[in-house]
Amino acid sequence: MAAKPRISVIGVGYVGLCTAVGFASKGYSVVCSDVDSGKVSKIKAGIPPFHEPNLPQMLEKSINQGYLTCLVNQTEAAVMETDITYIAVSTPSKEDGSIDLRYIEAVSRDIGKTLRQKNGYHVVLVKSTVVPGTTQNTVKPILEAESKKTCGRDFGLCMNPEFLRQGSAFEDTSNPDRVVIGSFDEKSGDAIERLYRDFYHPKVPRIIRTSLATAELIKYASNAMLATKISFINTIANICEEIPGADVKVVAAAMGLDKRIGPLFLDAGLGYGGSCFPKDVKALIACSKALGYEPELLDSVEDVNHKQPLKAVEFVKQQLGNLEGKNIAILGLAFKPDTDDMREARVIPIINELLKEGAVITAYDPVAISMAKSIFQNKISYADSAIGCLKNADCAIVVTEWEEFKKLSPEDFCINMRHPILIDGRRIYCPEVYSEKLKFTAIGLGK
Ligand code: UGA
Repeated sequence: MAAKPRISVIGVGYVGLCTAVGFASKGYSVVCSDVDSGKVSKIKAGIPPFHEPNLPQMLEKSINQGYLTCLVNQTEAAVMETDITYIAVSTPSKEDGSIDLRYIEAVSRDIGKTLRQKNGYHVVLVKSTVVPGTTQNTVKPILEAESKKTCGRDFGLCMNPEFLRQGSAFEDTSNPDRVVIGSFDEKSGDAIERLYRDFYHPKVPRIIRTSLATAELIKYASNAMLATKISFINTIANICEEIPGADVKVVAAAMGLDKRIGPLFLDAGLGYGGSCFPKDVKALIACSKALGYEPELLDSVEDVNHKQPLKAVEFVKQQLGNLEGKNIAILGLAFKPDTDDMREARVIPIINELLKEGAVITAYDPVAISMAKSIFQNKISYADSAIGCLKNADCAIVVTEWEEFKKLSPEDFCINMRHPILIDGRRIYCPEVYSEKLKFTAIGLGK
């Protein structure tokens, strides 16, 4: 069997590090580079810079076995020592929703300069989420200009979008629904297909070979579809609330049995957050508008999601009236369970609005407290347990569906709160059981 190709990963954010550790844990030699020296020192010490189940053990093992090395801002060395380079730097949002390509451009320049001196065929692969046309129209010209070489002949260029979710990264990468390989040239696409066939052997997922632009669009279309499902079910939830006896959970479960619809991503709640859906929907809208097409459906998806967290505030006001001086317990800060990420977390607009109304807030999250402190500082208090958070509260809101919150009984709320009023923003409690013992309101539940 041919030797495993050596891999470099530029940018050890969430996707970059999980990709690197995924390969290293299967015996590939991986060299990473990132401009953030703090992040690199942590990784070198075997400490992931963010919370992800299984990552600490896998990272430590990869480093100890010598399969993973991480360098500070040394793209050149990383590319020189390897055969395939993943570009996994961030593509932040600009004011108008379009993506900022400055890191992609900078890294492409560094890679191009290195390719100029490097002998042998090298494949550059864009893993970052970039709008259709970016790999062809931005990355390729920079690589060619800096390397003085020709793409497709002297080096290869692919686009391979990532579909892993935070909190289940390794489950998702070890068992993906599909692998998408967009390639500029046949040879580089074949090399990346071989890489993945070897990586997944013997359980190789469906591999889709396509053009660079189609691969780029598959990523956006997938995230936009999932965001659409969420805003759709939240719309149905909002309708349910006006219909006595209606329950969105039952509606979603029955809809999901239709094979054409499917059961996943139909959990009504306070909307979607995180570093991907909000940013990607905005970027697809901006890209579409720039191309001259008004994507009205996506505008609505975004609009529904913008308003949805404020449902929680509306519910609190319905229960308590004036919020001045009222104690509100917030259960959950992370944008979803199993992560400490609070980017675009739905709790942010909720807390901001409650503070504006004069409420006094105590929040608890199993892992995101320190992240929350950097956002809210001492504007709110932080509890070190769910029960501690409930003490003396006039109302509790479940914002993130952590497993430990599911275990709270009606008695836990009744005994600890001043007024046992519970708002289930993620539909984790059985309405029949909880509404018997406390004042219970939930997203998508007819009054
Ligand atoms: C999402 C996609 O699911 C991944 O496939 C993709 O690779 C990733 O973005 C990315 O582009 O990098 P992620 O942001 O980690 O992954 O989180 P999800 O599990 O998709 O959840 C996103 C948000 O939707 C969360 O706030 C979650 O609470 C919300 N959500 C999800 C709902 O409100 N209802 C649902 O039914 C499902």
